[in-house]
Amino acid sequence: MIVCVCKSVSDRTIRSSIAEGVDSFDELQFELGVAMCCGKCADSVRDVMMQSGVCASRCGLDHHTQAMPMTFYERKAA
Ligand code: FES
Repeated sequence: MIVCVCKSVSDRTIRSSIAEGVDSFDELQFELGVAMCCGKCADSVRDVMMQSGVCASRCGLDHHTQAMPMTFYERKAA
């Protein structure tokens, strides 16, 4: 499912990048361009990172007190 609408980046792409060694929010921004336009996807990107086992201190949040619900933005047909 698309996480970043502006850059058309899916959760699968984010997970693949994490599996290939990307382990910080800044690196994901650099590699995929997520959260670089409107920024609305930042929390969802961090959710995917957290669910992929990336250390909370590297996802850009101080800590996670509980699992956060994942929010996706769907593209609407023209
Ligand atoms: S949805 Fe990711 S930057 Fe806009």
